[in-house]
Amino acid sequence: MNYLPLENRYEKIPYNRCGRSGLKLPAISVGLWHNFGGVDVYQNSRNLILHAFNNGITHFDLANNYGPPPGSAEENFGKVLRKDLTGYRDELIISTKAGYYMWPGPYGEWGSKKHLIASLDQSLKRMGLDYVDIFYSHRPDPETPFEETLGALDHILRSGKALYVGISNYTAEQTAKALKIIDSMGSKCIIHQPRYNMFDRWVEDGLLDVLEEHGVGCIPFSPLAQGLLTNKYLKGIPDDSRMAGNSIFLKKDQLTDEIVNKISKLNAVAGERNQSLAQMALAWLLRDQRITSVLIGASKIEQIDDGLAAAKNTSFSGEELNSINEILK
Ligand SMILES: NC(=O)c1ccc[n+]([C@@H]2O[C@H](COP(=O)([O-])OP(=O)(O)OC[C@H]3O[C@@H](n4cnc5c(N)ncnc54)[C@H](OP(=O)(O)O)[C@@H]3O)[C@@H](O)[C@H]2O)c1
Repeated sequence: MNYLPLENRYEKIPYNRCGRSGLKLPAISVGLWHNFGGVDVYQNSRNLILHAFNNGITHFDLANNYGPPPGSAEENFGKVLRKDLTGYRDELIISTKAGYYMWPGPYGEWGSKKHLIASLDQSLKRMGLDYVDIFYSHRPDPETPFEETLGALDHILRSGKALYVGISNYTAEQTAKALKIIDSMGSKCIIHQPRYNMFDRWVEDGLLDVLEEHGVGCIPFSPLAQGLLTNKYLKGIPDDSRMAGNSIFLKKDQLTDEIVNKISKLNAVAGERNQSLAQMALAWLLRDQRITSVLIGASKIEQIDDGLAAAKNTSFSGEELNSINEILK
């Protein structure tokens, strides 16, 4: 049977303006880094995407290399678009990125014009799209002049292959430089995608100020520190967790006694707020007006529901913030 989204889906989540652009994003967005690749169960990936869309999550984040194998998350997303979401393209914000290793040789990664444009063309083909909504430079390239990388983003905007452009993993200084360059070309970069969560607060030392000053939105990735900021690792490593899957990104030795102790204390603060730890960790990011949306990953539908619930209570008392800061010290 054809998929029909819930009619009241736009009443379920707030939408925030992305910096000073015209684009609004849902407070919670879903990323397809894990659980949407060729090695995953397609039906589960499809259910996650449709459940998110049914609940007002309009923004899905991809990259050329998401899988595994690399490229397969875009292929699977394209399949869902074709089979279930035909007719809803104008209700979706689809992003992709280029910059990390994708194919052999000197043009398969980093920030040259050659790599960015060739990679975007490949992504469009895999997803079956004419354009993406947001295209990112996935990481700064120390060897390519910023003028070339930002010039490629400007070119992509003008070619209509992306409606908006963004940068990811650029430091505060690199961001200020990049924004100035693209401004001088008459284009805007509207969004930055940094890692930001309770355990990794580097963006508070300058990046958020630069973004605010330039009217650029912020969409933190790994807001749950890949699942650490939930109650899932309090009693060991569950078999169905990212850590148990021998992830090279979330290793078992990261689950130290110190981290478990912190998670346990944070879990108690969350309980006092009538939230799960996952909900509190997401709400804690969203309490800052400079955060447009948080980019969660999910392997199960309930995890998306936790994200949706988080957006319902994002205010914190001074006392709660102090306790959290004490725990995170
Ligand atoms: N720009 C970049 O360089 C970059 C880098 C990384 C990620 N990203 C983007 O950010 C997105 C999110 O990253 P992420 O997956 O690391 O985000 P995350 O939200 O920190 O972690 C997601 C993982 O945590 C677990 N989880 C989520 N909600 C949970 C809950 N309520 N209770 C218990 N466990 C829960 C799930 O893993 P399990 O159930 O499998 O344990 C889930 O896959 C990616 O998909 C990608 O789009 C971008």
